Amino acid sequence: MFSFLFSAFWLLMVIVLAQKNFNVLSTRKSLKTDCLGSYMRLTVDKSLAFGNQIEFDAVNGSQIEPLTPSLAAKCGFSIDSDPWGNYKVFASLLNCFAGNEDDTVFDVGVRVRVRGVKAEQDVFEVEKSCNYGQWAPREVLCTWNYMEVKPRLKRQEMVSLSTAFQAITSRYNIWRMVFFTPKQKAMVLEDALRTGYSITTTRSRLVLRSGYDMPETYVENVNGVPMKIIRVTTYFKKQWSVTMLDTVAACPTGGLSFTDEMITWNFPRFNPLMSSRETNLLEMFMGIDGKQIESLQMAARGYVLTIVDDLIVMKMPLGGPDGYYKSHVVNDQYHITYDIEPMLELLWSDGGMDSTRYKVLFPIKTPFMPRPPHFVDFTDVDQRVFDVLLGPFLYDIELVNITFSTGVLTVAEVNARGINIQEQRFQNGSKAFRLQVPFSDSFVRTVIYTLRLIYGFMILPEYTPFSYTSSVDVTLQDVILPTVSGTCDEEQFHIIISFGNMGKNSNIMIGMHDMTPDRRAEYGVKENDTHMSLAVPFLASDVAFELMYVSSLRARIDVLLWEPMNKWTLCDFSLACSFQMTMTECFSNGTMSALAVKVESVPQLVPRQLTLRDSSCRPKFSNNRFAYFTFEANSCGTTRTFYDGVVMYQNEITLGNVLPVYQQSKKGVPTSAPDPEYRVTMSCFYTLNDTQTIAFFTKPRENEPLPETGFGELQVVLRLAWDGSYNNFYVEEDYPVVKYLRSPLFFEVALLQSTDPQIELVLENCWATLKEDRNSTSRWDLIVDGCVNLADRYETVFHPVAPNSVPYPSHVKHFEIKMFTFVQSDVVLQDQIAQILITSFSVILFGFFFFFFFCS
Ligand SMILES: *[C@@H]1O[C@H](CO)[C@@H](O)[C@H](O)[C@H]1NC(C)=O
Ligand SMILES: *[C@@H]1O[C@H](CO)[C@@H](O)[C@H](O)[C@H]1NC(C)=O
Ligand SMILES: *[C@@H]1O[C@H](CO)[C@@H](O)[C@H](O)[C@H]1NC(C)=O
Ligand SMILES: *[C@@H]1O[C@H](CO)[C@@H](O)[C@H](O)[C@H]1NC(C)=O
Ligand SMILES: *[C@@H]1O[C@H](CO)[C@@H](O)[C@H](O)[C@H]1NC(C)=O
Ligand SMILES: *[C@@H]1O[C@H](CO)[C@@H](O)[C@H](O)[C@H]1NC(C)=O
Ligand SMILES: *[C@@H]1O[C@H](CO)[C@@H](O)[C@H](O)[C@H]1NC(C)=O
Repeated sequence: MFSFLFSAFWLLMVIVLAQKNFNVLSTRKSLKTDCLGSYMRLTVDKSLAFGNQIEFDAVNGSQIEPLTPSLAAKCGFSIDSDPWGNYKVFASLLNCFAGNEDDTVFDVGVRVRVRGVKAEQDVFEVEKSCNYGQWAPREVLCTWNYMEVKPRLKRQEMVSLSTAFQAITSRYNIWRMVFFTPKQKAMVLEDALRTGYSITTTRSRLVLRSGYDMPETYVENVNGVPMKIIRVTTYFKKQWSVTMLDTVAACPTGGLSFTDEMITWNFPRFNPLMSSRETNLLEMFMGIDGKQIESLQMAARGYVLTIVDDLIVMKMPLGGPDGYYKSHVVNDQYHITYDIEPMLELLWSDGGMDSTRYKVLFPIKTPFMPRPPHFVDFTDVDQRVFDVLLGPFLYDIELVNITFSTGVLTVAEVNARGINIQEQRFQNGSKAFRLQVPFSDSFVRTVIYTLRLIYGFMILPEYTPFSYTSSVDVTLQDVILPTVSGTCDEEQFHIIISFGNMGKNSNIMIGMHDMTPDRRAEYGVKENDTHMSLAVPFLASDVAFELMYVSSLRARIDVLLWEPMNKWTLCDFSLACSFQMTMTECFSNGTMSALAVKVESVPQLVPRQLTLRDSSCRPKFSNNRFAYFTFEANSCGTTRTFYDGVVMYQNEITLGNVLPVYQQSKKGVPTSAPDPEYRVTMSCFYTLNDTQTIAFFTKPRENEPLPETGFGELQVVLRLAWDGSYNNFYVEEDYPVVKYLRSPLFFEVALLQSTDPQIELVLENCWATLKEDRNSTSRWDLIVDGCVNLADRYETVFHPVAPNSVPYPSHVKHFEIKMFTFVQSDVVLQDQIAQILITSFSVILFGFFFFFFFCS
């Protein structure tokens, strides 16, 4: 009766105390206590500490001890925390500091200290009174840092030890202890306590507690699961009698297996605590964070607890809300883990003997699971924006900065630059980062076609930095390649290069050569951000000659743009134009000239070595691209051919001295010598006033335009002689010459300069006009189709030219007319009657062998 009153009072007092404390704490709502069977759980929310360090003390009345790891393991406290500062303290109801009332009501006190930045501390005292009367005959508790076994003292032990209640509670009744490791090792109680074991007795129980790393513990593989075991026989002594109690605790240290989706924890169905395989499993529960959960909740979470053969199997899907994911960096690679703390609770009876309640609190952390983020390129070339997504990352990742090729920018700076950066959230709380960078932005190295990025991340709350490097390659089609266009005027190629979207970093080649500063100056390079222009003279050394025509040269310029890093050809441009250039000239004095050009198709040509048909006729002038010949029409092997009144002189320029090359036929027999590879034929067609020249290659190309025709002239002179002897002639100063009507006029027409005796000058038509206009309607025909005009009363008379009087008689014609006058409307034009003035004349050589003169 007394004892009941006492305990009721005690209980009341604790509740008051606890309420007082909770009033203080309720504003914070951050400390929570639960009585969970044989232990009390204190939950400390992170909001209590705000990132500051938390420490715990065990409290026993006025006695306060800091819970160091070794004291916690020894005295029955287990402290867990997560990275954010949430703590769980599991305090055994039989911990060294607990108040114990009749092995039923236990008072647990814990003090929470928050270490501030400065020395001062916030201190919160927590006291909890837990009522636990349903002790099984044997209770075993495994936490991550200690094993605790609490066997009930059997009646005979109690009886034999003492008839009195106090004797049992006195630990000094323990005489000695023998540990099995499995070798026997005996210790007296004091030594065992000093070693770090906690050994106490309550009214009805022995309490033995040991850390996992104690020397007298050992590991046993139990059906594939490693278990830590402590096995002790305790000898109790009371005067003459000694009793002994075998005590064993066995706690799993493994049995885990992981997949990406599931954690599997195996626990042996039969374990060293069982004396036989005749055990009867009475209860089997799963718990989370030390608290049993119901089958409904298990189903909702996807948890499974079954017995498979000789194993108790617990399955927990990764990612459930009872645990948490965490980011990590391992070897610079992004990894995640998942943490969860399940509990296994068993109750079995052992071959009709006393039953055992067995609890394991088993914090699980998965191994580091690599989760390299995906870098997804959504770049739409038409939008001209690099668009990339990087993820997924867990919720605890912060993007801090991004390093572009131009330098590092914080996220705020990136946004300030107008670059769109977004954090995208998935339903499961993971996130990804989307970045949109315009092509035009200077961070994009257009030459490389690549956006290179280094993302700088931070894992919170630990502030662990890590980075991720990536790059986007924009393929060639995504890039606007540079283009080249061009036109020609009479002397130059005009080239315009448009750089496209790759900047100016491409190399430019003109012809066979790179663009040097000298060439830039020579070609008048002008450029702005997007374009470059230049003008290349058609005779510049970088220009290739394709074909020669009579009076023009077909020349080509090649422009190549290439990218130096990958040696990609970006643009290959050619432009060919014909430029006016006199290649062959036919002079009326019989001199011919020709220019030979080194054309691209004959790369080995040395112009200096070219000759005419007569190989002694060499160039008058030559350099590495040109050879200039000038020669008389009757020399150097020039041939002459007559057509209808046309005379054609022809010669050719070849590599005349080149020895014939004999090709080996397949049969080994020499075949005919090939033509010299270079042959320019030039011709002069002489008509009066008209010279035609033609140049062509022996192997004409396709689509080659017809040869052009050039014009030259032969000089013909018409003169008036003093008399029929044709020895003296009026000269220019004598005009106007005065002649009487019907007095004779002796005309001579002569071909000048030509030295070709085979040309004959023939007079075809000749007429006189009143006015200078040769088409004037006042006209009188003197010679018609090479004959005298029969309508004329005073016929024109031809006089032969004496064979030796002139060097080339066939070049000269003499004829005589009588001075006459024009009549208009039967009226003699008086002015002209008295004097016929020959003021001037000219011979116009027209067509061939036509000529006219004017008399007035
Ligand atoms: C705590 O107090 C109880 C009595 O209130 C005492 O028996 C016990 O030895 C104390 N524990 C410690 C560790 O001081
Ligand atoms: C979260 O969801 C995203 C998108 O469905 C997925 O890629 C990612 O793996 C998920 N994260 C976790 C931790 O399950
Ligand atoms: C960018 O972020 C990374 C990762 O957090 C960090 O290590 C680095 O110092 C930051 N760089 C700059 C220039 O701030
Ligand atoms: C650059 O030059 C090109 C051609 O010379 C011209 O069309 C273009 O407008 C110029 N661009 C600028 C920005 O001056
Ligand atoms: C013929 O005329 C050309 C051009 O006037 C001149 O260069 C050349 O020397 C002349 N030839 C002769 C043989 O007089
Ligand atoms: C013939 O020569 C004259 C004088 O040089 C010239 O004016 C005329 O055009 C020439 N005729 C032809 C058909 O070339
Ligand atoms: C004279 O006529 C010819 C052909 O009928 C023509 O070609 C020429 O131009 C004319 N001359 C003049 C000066 O009108």
